[in-house]
Amino acid sequence: VTSDRLAELLAPWLDAGPAYLGLAAGLRGLALDGRLPVGTRIASERQLALVLGVSRNTITAAYDVLRSEGYLASARGGGSRVTLPAAVPARPDAVPGERPDIWDLSVAALPAPAALIDSVTEAALALHPLLAGHGLYPLGLPETREAVADHLTRRGLSTRADQVLITNGSLHGWDLLLRALTRPGVRVLVEQPTYPAVLDAVMSHRLRPVAFPVTGQGWEMPAPATALAHLIPDGQNPTGFLATTAQRRNLLRQLRAEVIACDETFADLVLDGSPPVPLGALDERVVTLGSMSKAFWAGLRVGWVRADRDTLTRLAQIRAGTDLAGPVLEQLIAARLLRRADAVLAERRALLRRSRDALMDALTLALPTWRFHRPAAGMVLWIEMPEARATRLVAHALDIGLRLTAGPRFTIDGTADRWFRLPYTLPPEKVAAVVDLLVDAAGRVDSGAPPSGNKQSRWTA
Ligand SMILES: Cc1ncc(COP(=O)(O)O)c(C=O)c1O
Repeated sequence: VTSDRLAELLAPWLDAGPAYLGLAAGLRGLALDGRLPVGTRIASERQLALVLGVSRNTITAAYDVLRSEGYLASARGGGSRVTLPAAVPARPDAVPGERPDIWDLSVAALPAPAALIDSVTEAALALHPLLAGHGLYPLGLPETREAVADHLTRRGLSTRADQVLITNGSLHGWDLLLRALTRPGVRVLVEQPTYPAVLDAVMSHRLRPVAFPVTGQGWEMPAPATALAHLIPDGQNPTGFLATTAQRRNLLRQLRAEVIACDETFADLVLDGSPPVPLGALDERVVTLGSMSKAFWAGLRVGWVRADRDTLTRLAQIRAGTDLAGPVLEQLIAARLLRRADAVLAERRALLRRSRDALMDALTLALPTWRFHRPAAGMVLWIEMPEARATRLVAHALDIGLRLTAGPRFTIDGTADRWFRLPYTLPPEKVAAVVDLLVDAAGRVDSGAPPSGNKQSRWTA
């Protein structure tokens, strides 16, 4: 591309903010739009400074940014050419220029099931008659509310469609509940350890989380009285705990929370034995949060809240201040996937059982001092090491290409550094490679060598 043409293409980007950032944004945008195809040779720093009428330092700074992000490759004497990063980082906490070959096990989620494609095709056809309307359904699309109600009823939680609000994931449901039922400073009971985003949501509303210790055996009673409690009795994240029906009854007898949010994100993934009675079927204080994310596909961003009609009306009104309503096409897909739940879930559970058992066998052989129990539900192992070194282990693991989440991320106070979470979401044939990396990382911890200081992940799913 000639430097004059490049100056024309860049003109709209150069008005606002520091010139080098505008220039970098312009070149990046032109590369991503395909208007500067990969391999295009661009003007030298000196030439471009001349035609744009800016200092050469500005161009140098912009080219440096683009090189570090992977949008520009410069060869000595060969000028600079447009490139694209191997993987455009999707994580909000990704470091620019991060190695693209990282195995990201800070996310516990499976790839989409094959049945998703048929559901997408059918949903596209079903979309047609809906196009005549404005497409906003604050409580959710009627047929998706119906499909969720049927799904819950079949699982033992008798539900009508008007008791269901469709959300953009179960975490969204938790956020709406926090908005509806609390005001800043109020105490909210959360399991310790718990899923980090549950804690993040509590903190972001200026609430005070109160720890309710939970182990692989259950909850440490008694718990202090609070207006709201969050529990994950079905494949607890991260302990993998599955409460028996007797434990649920005992918990509900003793728990003094006015509203109990039961997060059923993993409830469709009971791997051993038959599923216990849903918490919501045992107590009227329970509001159930559910999701397509773990059992079906996280990319749909479809979840639900099951509650009484008045509560749902409030949540739908509060939603007006955040997202108004969920996307229609995804809700149509979710309804069709739920109708295929028996086949999809049987396949998912079989896959997870195989991966869990292969991972547990390989770990027992390779790292015999690490302890864990066999989770009866969900998709993660909660591994206890002999010493409080999980943060170091996770830092070394990242250096060699494996991203994990250490125990402190799952607690209010940054404790639990003897534990880390290991999802069994990779196929069994990949297990040996992951365990080799863990052995390598554990050896580095034992050697006392410092990790590189790479930024650790906060973003956890
Ligand atoms: C216990 C728990 N709740 C909620 C979520 C987020 O679910 P969703 O994708 O439905 O928002 C996760 C994801 O890891 C989780 O483990």
